Amino acid sequence: MRFVVLGAAAGGGLPQWNCGCRNCAMARSSGLRPQTQSSLAVSLGGLNWAILNASPDIRQQINDNTQLHPRGPRDTPIMSVVLTNGDLDHIVGLLTLRERQPFQIFLTGAIAGILDSNPVFRVLDPNTVQRNLVVPNKSFPLLPGLDASLFAVPGKVALFMEDEDATIGAESEHVTGVALSAGGLRAFYIPGCAHLTESLATRIRGADIVFFDGTLFTDDEMIRTRTGTKTGRRMGHMPISGEGGSLKVLARLDIGRIVYIHINNTNPIWRDGPERDLVLRHGFEVGCDGAEISLAPRS
Ligand code: MLT
Ligand code: MN
Ligand code: ZN
Repeated sequence: MRFVVLGAAAGGGLPQWNCGCRNCAMARSSGLRPQTQSSLAVSLGGLNWAILNASPDIRQQINDNTQLHPRGPRDTPIMSVVLTNGDLDHIVGLLTLRERQPFQIFLTGAIAGILDSNPVFRVLDPNTVQRNLVVPNKSFPLLPGLDASLFAVPGKVALFMEDEDATIGAESEHVTGVALSAGGLRAFYIPGCAHLTESLATRIRGADIVFFDGTLFTDDEMIRTRTGTKTGRRMGHMPISGEGGSLKVLARLDIGRIVYIHINNTNPIWRDGPERDLVLRHGFEVGCDGAEISLAPRS
């Protein structure tokens, strides 16, 4: 099973257009490598690829990663695209994938409803780009030989669909994670998670690799950096550190490799320092654009 981190940053990217936080300033002055918005590519063998979430930066991500280049006058190795939620950082890239190129989209009914209610997505002709509605916990063939399933994760509806009393932490078809299995390997991709429940912990325990929500290091990080007014949990993202943070919980689950992805530009783990050290000392990895991971089959 092969992975390429196409975009390690959360919505907005690093740097974000209107952000002058420490990391964004460093990314503009070559102190940090810029990072694009949230997406992961997966393949078996490298011939065909599935893209997990279609980032607004997908054009650059395809250009930057030769595995995804066309091999003929009209061609793509991208066979399928999975959408895990309806936030813009995960759906806008679909608009770049027009040009009458056949591929498959896998998504829940809730996310299909978002695409249906925004006529701009009609640019993807349903006769060319097939939408496959996925029922949570039911496996489907994502690529030849690679089975996937989506499962509900605590979260909230997309930001642009929130009303005044948005429920946070609900498990529904609006926020899902992806389970992948092939050759005896078990991999998970969970870019947004408000709370690591017992059932989610049980699900991912003992996995070979988990790509996990690394949006914020501390819950009040955006308030303290004066870049926002909401806590991470209010945004549907549990923090890395602290009691109930993902670091402590995930460290107990006997997972082969844990890679933080969907990392917000304010997150101190982008730069050298005690926060990044803490993550690395636990054996966790900090995702970055272009990172390649290959796992040999177990069976
Ligand atoms: C999120 O992950 O919280 C969203 O991407 C926020 C956004 O759409 O800006
Ligand atoms: Mn996001
Ligand atoms: Zn910033």
